[in-house]
Amino acid sequence: MTETTARSGTTTRNETATRNDTAHREDRPPLPDRTDPTAIGAQRVGLPGSDVKVGPLGHLAAERQRLDALRWEHFDVTRTSATLGAEVSGILLADDLPDPVVADLARALADYKVLFFRDQPLTTAQHVAFARRFGELEIHPFLPANTDSPEVVRFAKSADVGGYENGWHHDVTWREVPSMGAVLHAVEVPDSGGDTLFADAYAALDELDPDLRERVDGLLAVHDFAHVFGHTLSPEDLAAMQEQHPPVAHPVIATHDRTGRDHLYVNRFFVSHLTEADGEPLDPDESARLVDQLCRPFETPELQVRLRWEPDSVAFWDNRAVQHYACSDYWPDVRVMERASIVGTRPVRR
Ligand code: SIN
Repeated sequence: MTETTARSGTTTRNETATRNDTAHREDRPPLPDRTDPTAIGAQRVGLPGSDVKVGPLGHLAAERQRLDALRWEHFDVTRTSATLGAEVSGILLADDLPDPVVADLARALADYKVLFFRDQPLTTAQHVAFARRFGELEIHPFLPANTDSPEVVRFAKSADVGGYENGWHHDVTWREVPSMGAVLHAVEVPDSGGDTLFADAYAALDELDPDLRERVDGLLAVHDFAHVFGHTLSPEDLAAMQEQHPPVAHPVIATHDRTGRDHLYVNRFFVSHLTEADGEPLDPDESARLVDQLCRPFETPELQVRLRWEPDSVAFWDNRAVQHYACSDYWPDVRVMERASIVGTRPVRR
């Protein structure tokens, strides 16, 4: 596919700038291999009397170097954090994007785990049309759509409705088949605050102490919507919903269906407890301790990227490869976001 053909019908960046950027990248000397996490200088040091460790997270280097070697034909990509997050420019999501561009976006999503786009005015229909290029869309049973389209969830926050999405989570893990990703469009943003943070679930797994990793590999986590949404329902509605969406068990360490890489798949929002592989519940104290230990790596800033929203910014995240957290620091200001979620596959451990 030539550059000209691939871009037909697409709004692209300035072609001269493109050629200059490409030439600039090709002139760069090859990167030295600085990715050995056991090297002197890559060691972390435990602080006496605590479980706090300081020092470089050396295991991030290999992924960072891999991402920097990637080249993109149809748009520009700027990595925004060590192992996740990239700002994509040179395309308009409202356009009817050619298939090769969509295929490259899917590849970029798998690599960078969350993609950011600026200045993307989208009608609800355009939002739905873009997200549908990546799969069927979900209808959320609890969150109101509030728009012309049932597939688009509207998070409209104000003095009357606070932002309650400020806990680390993968979306809808209480479904048997949770979403593969979500496209979130900023309709109205506060003057300050309301950022969204994302954390790398592959790097979180690599962060685990080897003994802990060995203990949890093969365990299942039970995910239950009632943890977060239960209090919003009447007892009758809760019972009816629990019948439709009973708790579901997913592997604590899952294998990503596209990348084939293992990642952590436990979040505090929806996981009620852990079980052995045969479904036998763990002792409640051990379960609570392990859930805490498995969720903590997501709280490490080096594993995160943070998006400062502007009107018409869009974030497209891989809902298996990252957890996210919406900062709730702007009340009583208004923040309106719309989300379309793409149906995924049932998580498995290969
Ligand atoms: C969500 O949790 O999906 C919403 C994220 C946000 O509003 O930033």
